[in-house]
This record gives sequence, structure tokens and C-alpha cells, in this order.
Amino acid sequence: MAAIINPRKVAIVGCGFVGSASAFALMQSGLFAEMVLIDVDRDRAEGEALDIAHGMPFASPMNIYAGDYTDIDDAAITVITAGANQAPGETRLDLVNKNVAIFKSIIPQIAERDYQGILLVVSNPVDILTYVTLKLSGMPANRVLGSGTTLDTARFKCALGEHLGVDPRNVHARIIGEHGDSEIAAWSLANISGIPLDTFCELRGRTNRQEDMDRIAEDVKNAAYEIIKKKRATYYGIAMTVKRICEAITRDEKPILPVSNYLDGDYGLHDIVLSMPAVVGKDGIEYKVPITLNEKETAQLKESAATLRAVIDKLDL
Ligand code: NAI
Ligand code: LAC
Repeated sequence: MAAIINPRKVAIVGCGFVGSASAFALMQSGLFAEMVLIDVDRDRAEGEALDIAHGMPFASPMNIYAGDYTDIDDAAITVITAGANQAPGETRLDLVNKNVAIFKSIIPQIAERDYQGILLVVSNPVDILTYVTLKLSGMPANRVLGSGTTLDTARFKCALGEHLGVDPRNVHARIIGEHGDSEIAAWSLANISGIPLDTFCELRGRTNRQEDMDRIAEDVKNAAYEIIKKKRATYYGIAMTVKRICEAITRDEKPILPVSNYLDGDYGLHDIVLSMPAVVGKDGIEYKVPITLNEKETAQLKESAATLRAVIDKLDL
């Protein structure tokens, strides 16, 4: 019989840079009372649990420990960050074979427990691995999501906020499609607190609009490459992204986030996972928000989907 879900429990599978930074962010968030860390390298999971737990007197009390798959049963959310990361110059898609093999060893262990919580996939290539998780687990699509372009969207908001001298939280703009090289900056829907982007650029004396926007979108797309070149891995931005998604689910906040979600019929796309805006709440993906893109963005979205489809078609699932 399936375990009763504890809404204040989270599990993290994979305790490398991303898993441990996410665990650290979640410990500080006060969202959970219990957190289990799982890794093939048990010492790593134990070491991270001990280290992070020592910050508790300065945050909220909680039970943090290293465990195994039996400890996942009652977790409201299981965050999966296990797998190889990119070496400098490698793309996210280059990781697919290694990480699909790792997911084939992880997901069945979760699925066989009749897991009733939500799976949040972070490992790369995240859209593909969210698709793989969905297929291997047989879980309903609303309970399997990926962090997707929520991180790229945060980078986009930071860059636009800095360029226009405005709080990034007032920037309403998003990156959609693949979390990767074919991602799309949805310029046609971008605005600053309801003020059209063009108008705001003019107000702030930013007259090279097209050139600036092209550069910003390119920088956002390449941000991870730049960070990996300088410090081997990215982990703080994604840790905050994981925290935000967990917050949306745990508190049933229902924000619209560009998470990786299953599309079948939406935007004329079939049987694919891509990052498109969705309302995220206690049931995971609660509503896929249909957005109207312009012709160029629609064509880019189709291309992004075709890129991912070509990779999926080569997988042995
Ligand atoms: P890392 O190498 O530091 O950590 C990976 C961890 O996974 C290691 O501790 C390893 O022992 C563990 N692991 C490997 N196989 C496992 C298995 N079968 N079961 C349990 N644990 C296993 O890598 P890092 O930097 O933490 O990156 C992890 C993943 O997250 C990579 O795929 C990376 O590309 C991705 N990532 C995704 C982001 C996103 O926005 N979606 C952002 C940053 C990284
Ligand atoms: C990122 C990872 C590497 O930081 O996907 O975008």
C-alpha cells in the first residue's frame, strides 16, 4: 500500500554540487521538517547531511539525514540531481547517455514503491530526463516536472533588470523551450510591470534595443558555459530555483513558472517535454498556461522540440 505523504518532507537524490547546494537552500527555507539525502556515494550524503545540519541553530529545526530509497516513500517532493555535469565545452545534450543510464538505475527504485509524491528533475539534459522519468515511472504527468528554464528565466530577469536599472522582480519576461542551446527568449510577451519593453527601454535611454536584446539573450543562453569554464559547475542559481519550485508546491502558491512539463497537443507538439509556463501548486503541474507567441518564436519552439525529439528517438526506453 502507498505510504501517506508527509507534506513537510523532501528527499534529494544526488548530493554533488547541485544536490548539496539545494539541500542547503532548503534547510534555510524552513519549508520542511525532514530532509533525506541519497547518493550512490553514501559517505558524501552523510557528510553533506552533517555539515548542513550544523547550520540549523541559525535557521529552523529539522531532521536531516542520509538514507536510501525506503526513506522516499512519504516525501512530498523528491528532487533528482544525480548524474554527470558538463565538462567545459560540453553541451547538456552531450550528457544524455550517461545520465539516462543513471536514471534507469534510480527511477525504477522510486516507481516500484508506488510513490505518491512529486518528482522534480534537475539533472541534465533536464527536459529529456524529465521525459525519461515520466516514461520509466509511469507516474501521472502532473507529478513529474523538471526545473526547466526557470533558472534561465531568473538569469534573464537579472540581466534585463541590470540593463534597465530596475528590480528583476519587476521584469516579466521568460525563457521557454529547451533548457539548453535551443532555448527561446519570448520577447513578444516581455514587459516591465505591465509597461511594454520597448517603452521602458526608451524611458531608460536604451536606444540600441535590438542589439542589446540579442546580446542579453545570447549571454543568458551561454551563462552556464561561462560559469563552468570559471568554476567547474553551476549550483547556487539552481539551488534557489529548486527552493522556489518546492515553495510553490509546498505552500500551494500557484505561481506561473516555466518548468519542464509534458506536452501532447499543446502548441501543435506531441509526446515531448519542454519548458513552458505552468501553474505550479500542491499537485505539481496544475494548469498549462497557453501563451501566444509570434511567428518567429513559434518557429523557434518547433525547432527546439525537434532538437529534443531527435535525441529522444535515439534512446532505448
Ligand atoms: P556532481 O558530479 O557534483 O554530483 C552528481 C552526484 O550524483 C554525485 O554525488 C554522484 O555520486 C551522484 N550520483 C551518480 N549516480 C548516482 C546514482 N545512480 N544514484 C544516486 N546518486 C548518484 O554534479 P552536479 O554539479 O551536482 O550536477 C548534477 C546534475 O545537475 C548534472 O547533470 C548537471 O548538469 C545538472 N544541473 C542542472 C541544472 C539545471 O538548471 N537543470 C543546473 C546545474 C546543474
Ligand atoms: C545551468 C546548468 C548547467 O546552470 O544546466 O544552466
